[in-house]
Amino acid sequence: MDSAANGRARARESASRDDDSTEAEITKVSAPPAPKPPAAAPARTAETLSITDNRTGKSYEIPIQDGTIRAMDLRQIKIKPEDFGIMSYDPAFTNTAACRSAITEIDGDKGILNYRGYPIEQLAEESSYLETAYLILHGELPARQQYEEWVHNITHHTILHENIKKFIDGFRYDAHPMGMLISTVAAMSTFYKDAKDIFNPKVRREHSYRLLAKVPTLAAFAYRHSTGLPFAYPDNDLSYTGNFLNMLFKMTEVRYKPNPILERALDVLFILHADHEQNCSASAMRGVGSSQVDPYSAVAAAVAALYGPLHGGANEMVLRMLTEIGSVTRVPDFVKRVKSGETRLMGFGHRVYKNYDPRAKIIKRMADQVFEVTGRNPLLDIALELERIALQDEYFVSRRLYPNVDFYSGLIYQSMRFPVDMFPVLFAIPRTVGWLAQWEEMLLDPEQKIARPRQIYTGRERREYVPMERRG
Ligand code: CMC
Repeated sequence: MDSAANGRARARESASRDDDSTEAEITKVSAPPAPKPPAAAPARTAETLSITDNRTGKSYEIPIQDGTIRAMDLRQIKIKPEDFGIMSYDPAFTNTAACRSAITEIDGDKGILNYRGYPIEQLAEESSYLETAYLILHGELPARQQYEEWVHNITHHTILHENIKKFIDGFRYDAHPMGMLISTVAAMSTFYKDAKDIFNPKVRREHSYRLLAKVPTLAAFAYRHSTGLPFAYPDNDLSYTGNFLNMLFKMTEVRYKPNPILERALDVLFILHADHEQNCSASAMRGVGSSQVDPYSAVAAAVAALYGPLHGGANEMVLRMLTEIGSVTRVPDFVKRVKSGETRLMGFGHRVYKNYDPRAKIIKRMADQVFEVTGRNPLLDIALELERIALQDEYFVSRRLYPNVDFYSGLIYQSMRFPVDMFPVLFAIPRTVGWLAQWEEMLLDPEQKIARPRQIYTGRERREYVPMERRG
């Protein structure tokens, strides 16, 4: 994960600094005269952190591993033996690694994103969403037969139980599709009671197929409901994204034929959204999953986390923002409002990336191919102008705010005829595999238990209950 990667990077950096300083000292002592003595082995620095508690004068040696100390090692630091010991305070987990993970690696400073070691650029160029999903869940790229079985299993789980249609029908016509998706994914747990057997690998795999296959169907049915169209059933002869487009846009034709450029563009967008290590929704998946609930309930929690405008809801907010700005000439005014703190430039900034989000680069390039089919999205000029100004404005430069994945994706989605409130759903569908991989990794990690952060209590001291008639 990111902090571990940073830890490794820091370890490499400090090792090379140590080498240099040892070399410099040797050179100073031994020159001249010749001959130069053999280079001594660099002194090995202890991989520990020394802490002195100034309240007691006591010192502690805390081990450092992967650039990290264990928060529990702080608990030995006490004034009196009966004390609780020191905790670390980290609201929003800005500097806390909550797990070890082998799935996704981000180097936020360099703008690097790898799934299971494979660079996102190569996957976006060479792979398909389902192949990438296999990689994310299993850790390796599939051999041909494994891939064919995987695609077959997912394709043959796309149909929903007919009862699910009935409760989709119960939503108001203007219900947000993310609200519908959260509820219907959660409701699926009531259809598959065996999914509770989460430590059985066969059961986990079976329900992973179901989730990957049925989430697009739920999403498409939610869309058809909101547009008043009859549900379009899955077509197993189409690709994962081709079938999704079919379930959304099929009208009276006997067979829906997706446009291959748009089908591939959606597939690439799905690859780019498949996982992103310990973000808000992955943490929700892990946190809720750590109570050992079934995967449908945990995925519903993850979808809910994704819904927020600071996470997966940002792509929708970008489109609304661009529409509100309305023209290139109004961009400078909008930037002023952002800088005064009145509003945020949606689709900009990231907790981890302090450089251009590599996903945004790929999407920006892909936009041209999509616009060749759909026609140019007129909001693109506003987006380009916002980016141009922001990338040279001191406010954004000093805070290292760059376009993230959501800045350009919405323009593509809109050009492909997706209504704006479907955008976060288009994030949730491909992210399902990331959530499942994070969940399984958490379940199988012997160090993990039910997630339970600590707090610093800031409320009142104990006091006695006062009956109502005696309250002022
Ligand atoms: N527009 C204007 N100012 C910003 C923005 C923005 N989009 N993002 C951060 N800042 C400022 C922020 O006001 C703060 O300034 P100051 O130091 O003067 O108080 C500084 O930059 C640091 O911001 P922060 O909120 O402490 O950073 P964070 O790491 O907590 O937030 C973020 C990350 C993504 C929530 C934030 O950048 C944001 O709100 N961006 C807009 C929403 C968005 O595009 N979200 C999608 C994220 S990518 C998809 C995903 O993975 O979910």
